[in-house]
This record gives sequence, structure tokens and C-alpha cells, in this order.
Amino acid sequence: MTSPLRIACVGEALIELIAPSLPGEARLNVAGDTLNAAIYLRRALPEPHRVHFVTALGTDRMSDQMIDFMQAEGVETGEIERREGLRPGLYSISNDPSGERSFGYWRENSAARRMFQTGATCDFSALDGFDVIYMSAISLAILPAPVRASLLEWIAQRRQDGVRFAFDSNYRPTLWEDLETARHTVARAWALCDIALPSVDDEIALFGGGEADVLARFHAHTDCRGALKRGQNGPVAINDDGDPAANFPAAEGVVDTTAAGDSFSGGFLGAYLQHGFVADAMAQGHDFATAVVKHPGAIVPRALWDQMFERP
Ligand SMILES: Nc1ncnc2c1ncn2[C@@H]1O[C@H](COP(=O)(O)OP(=O)(O)O)[C@@H](O)[C@H]1O
Ligand SMILES: [Mg+2]
Repeated sequence: MTSPLRIACVGEALIELIAPSLPGEARLNVAGDTLNAAIYLRRALPEPHRVHFVTALGTDRMSDQMIDFMQAEGVETGEIERREGLRPGLYSISNDPSGERSFGYWRENSAARRMFQTGATCDFSALDGFDVIYMSAISLAILPAPVRASLLEWIAQRRQDGVRFAFDSNYRPTLWEDLETARHTVARAWALCDIALPSVDDEIALFGGGEADVLARFHAHTDCRGALKRGQNGPVAINDDGDPAANFPAAEGVVDTTAAGDSFSGGFLGAYLQHGFVADAMAQGHDFATAVVKHPGAIVPRALWDQMFERP
């Protein structure tokens, strides 16, 4: 086995409020793209490897409970900043009378938006000592523009010391000031990337063109390995190291595609970081995602997951 790795997954953990009717009974979960990926990555890796979630939360009771949730999944929380007077972000899922889901967000002033910020300066020391840093465009979008730029610059320097940078596109237009800023920032992230996990829809929305253009762009980036996520069409390797004959069957009995991409990323990284084989990593990512889309919500409960993947 490779020597134990320390992996930092960076982003925002949100309170998820599922409210079928108002007034009525609601259900609460903890959600967030890079947190979902961290949980599936933790499930994919043997114990000696360490998976941290790096964010900022408040000092309130709900923030405590979110940390308890992460720890119960084996995700480490020792680098999470606790900010007095700030709170976690929240989002709601409700259904209109036809069953269509709609989302509402209360995250503009969340603690996570202040991560790495001490007074007027940035402090990225929470990320010191990690072998791999994983984040998404959402992790960058929620930060003020100067902090984003400094973070990417800090990562560029750490890469010279051998730190690997993994990135998932996850483009959410409403989180960005404008398309041009998103495009510029994500392009910079891809330029720094060692392990790229883009989704074809995100890339087309950001950069235009079609799937062939997306693949040509990543193909030209020869230092980088990874997979292009293509929903039910299955993933494709971004270099020549996928298995061209690989078949990724569409899932049957799809219930909820929430966290398909996040679980793919967790499964992919879990395999790739251990062995370095893209074809096997894509297979594990796809296995994880096809399991996740058959269940409601982002996180398949642990006991059920262990049964599905036949773990003792
Ligand atoms: N309906 C589906 N059937 C089979 N696999 C799926 C399905 N939807 C998603 N996947 C798997 O999940 C991966 C990520 O899904 P995708 O929808 O592309 O990501 P995102 O959620 O980031 O948009 C796909 O590459 C594929 O492996
Ligand atoms: Mg995605």
C-alpha cells in the first residue's frame, strides 16, 4: 500500500431543510458538494489515510452538530475554523403542487464565506501539511475575489513542493458575480490541476462549444489526469489512459441524482490516489454514483452502503 495520505476537502457545509409543506414538519440534513465527496472518499479509502473537511463554521449548537455528523462519518474536522457570531449557511428543498423541486438559499453571510480570512489578510495554514487538496468551483465562488485569487496562488506554490490539487467544476451561476469571473477563475483552477473531475454540462455552460471541445481542452493539458462526467452517458477519461472499451451502463431505478457527481469524485479519488489507474478510478466513481442515484438524498446511510459494497 502507498504511505498514508492526508487529503483536505475544502468547501461549505450547509444545513439542508426539507420542507414538504408550510406549516408542516421539516427534515434536516447536512449537505455540501465537497463534503459529500469527502464522505464518499472516506468510505473508499483504507483507515490509515486521513480525509479532512476544511471550512469555517460558527460556535453555535448547529455548527457543533454538523461537526458531530462529519466525525461520525470518519471525516476529520480538526482544521475547521470556528467563528464567533457567524453561522452555517442553510438551504431549503420544497416541492410545488406538481412535485417539481425548488431550492432556496440563506448562505450570503455564512461562516464559510469568511474562511481563510483574518482581518485584511489571508491565512491558509489550515491547509499546511496535506498531500492532496480537493475543492470545487463552489468552494471558490463563495469566497471574496481577492481570497480566491490568493488561494489559487498559494496552491500554485504548494504544488512546487509536491502537493497535488484536485478540482471538480460544479458551476453554479448564481454564486458568481458574472460569467466572465467564473470562467477566468475556473480556467485558472484547471491550469493548476493535477486531478480534474469536470462535468460536461458545467464546462459547456462556462466555456461554450461541445463535448469534443471540452475533451480537446483537457487533452492538451498533459500534466493532468482525470475524468469528464457525463451524467447517464457515463464518464470518459480526459487523457488516453482510460479503457476505450469500458462500458458504463446507465443506472436503473434512478430516484434522485443529487450528489451523483460528488460521489463519483469521491469514488474516483479513492481509487486513483491509491493506485494511480484512471480506468479503475472511473469504474469505482461510476459504481458509487450509480448506487447514490438509486437513493434519495446525497448520502446513502452507512449501513446500507456497507451492504451494497459488501463490507463487513
Ligand atoms: N442516470 C445515470 N445512470 C448512470 N450513471 C449516472 C447517472 N447519472 C449520473 N451517473 C454517473 O455519475 C457521474 C456523475 O454524474 P453527472 O450528472 O455527470 O455529475 P454532476 O452531478 O456533477 O452533474 C456520471 O459520470 C456517471 O458515472
Ligand atoms: Mg457536479
